[in-house]
Amino acid sequence: MQYTTIQMADGSKRRISRLVLGTVHFGTMIPEEEAFRMMDLFWEAGGNAIDTARVYGSWVPGQEAPSERTVGKWVRANGLDGQAFIMTKGAHPPMEDMHHSRLSREDILFDAERSAEILGLSHIDLYYLHRDDTFRPVADIMGSLDEAMRKLPIRALGASNWKAGRIREANAFAKSGGTAPFTASELRWSYVQFPEGVGDDTLVTMNQEEYAQYADMDLAVMAYSSQGNGLFQKGYKRDLSDVPDRIRGMATAENISRYQKMLAVTEAKGITPSRFLIHHITDDPKLNALALVGCSRIEQLKQSLEAMEEQHV
Ligand SMILES: NC(=O)c1ccc[n+]([C@@H]2O[C@H](COP(=O)([O-])OP(=O)(O)OC[C@H]3O[C@@H](n4cnc5c(N)ncnc54)[C@H](OP(=O)(O)O)[C@@H]3O)[C@@H](O)[C@H]2O)c1
Repeated sequence: MQYTTIQMADGSKRRISRLVLGTVHFGTMIPEEEAFRMMDLFWEAGGNAIDTARVYGSWVPGQEAPSERTVGKWVRANGLDGQAFIMTKGAHPPMEDMHHSRLSREDILFDAERSAEILGLSHIDLYYLHRDDTFRPVADIMGSLDEAMRKLPIRALGASNWKAGRIREANAFAKSGGTAPFTASELRWSYVQFPEGVGDDTLVTMNQEEYAQYADMDLAVMAYSSQGNGLFQKGYKRDLSDVPDRIRGMATAENISRYQKMLAVTEAKGITPSRFLIHHITDDPKLNALALVGCSRIEQLKQSLEAMEEQHV
């Protein structure tokens, strides 16, 4: 495993694995027992950073935060409270209306409180806002987060699907008032490109403009969908002509060209596509970058963990 550090609001630093375990389907498509096996394997291989969110699985009728519930239960069952680094997210819009902002003080406090209760841990190591609302001033949002931090055991703040410019603005505001800034950003970032229309339009994806801004910001940058939803990993034909329907829209000319460039490297070096894709993030020369991986099966997680045994591709 490889590690980095992340800044906590009290000025201390925590050492966390550069591979972050995604848990979007824990407690739903991935039942608790299987999710526990994945977290066991991840922990045994040195992984300590786990990413969940209040919204994960809450879209299943009758369920409230099954991913957070599963993660919290595993941490408690294994006596890892305070050792595992648990990050969660709140203030996600309602699934049926992604443009309905939920960044009011009431929404932020309600979600953070419910996450703390459901996780049932002594701390939330990193609390993210899952989306931004650029019509809402950063002063208002950072004020609500400051109140949440005073009420709840939140150790650090993050922004997910926020543009770097807004994070910069929010952090300048926090600095001026002596409150906690964002110390992490979670956005979509992969060697695989995401054509327009893949994912909703409230997602923020790394691009040259965003990247240039991050270069002088002291943030942990967490890449979700780093595996490109599996587009390059399933042994498809060299022109990606046989990809399943679920990801067919991603087999663009640009991705076919990237796929062939990746194969030239992976075949020459005898490495897996997972290793190539993860190191595309974690070897970044300028940013403190971490790769989030979503795995639907143990075998996929094993490949991701093997990728972290080597320092570079
Ligand atoms: N902040 C946000 O807004 C946000 C958004 C999305 C995700 N996330 C976080 O990031 C995590 C990962 O995101 P993601 O699931 O969108 O992206 P991902 O990691 O790019 O894709 C995961 C999918 O890729 C395939 N895959 C992964 N490893 C593979 C392997 N070794 N061989 C073959 N296929 C492989 C699997 O597809 P199959 O299931 O088809 O086999 C798997 O379900 C989530 O669990 C979540 O924690 C955050």
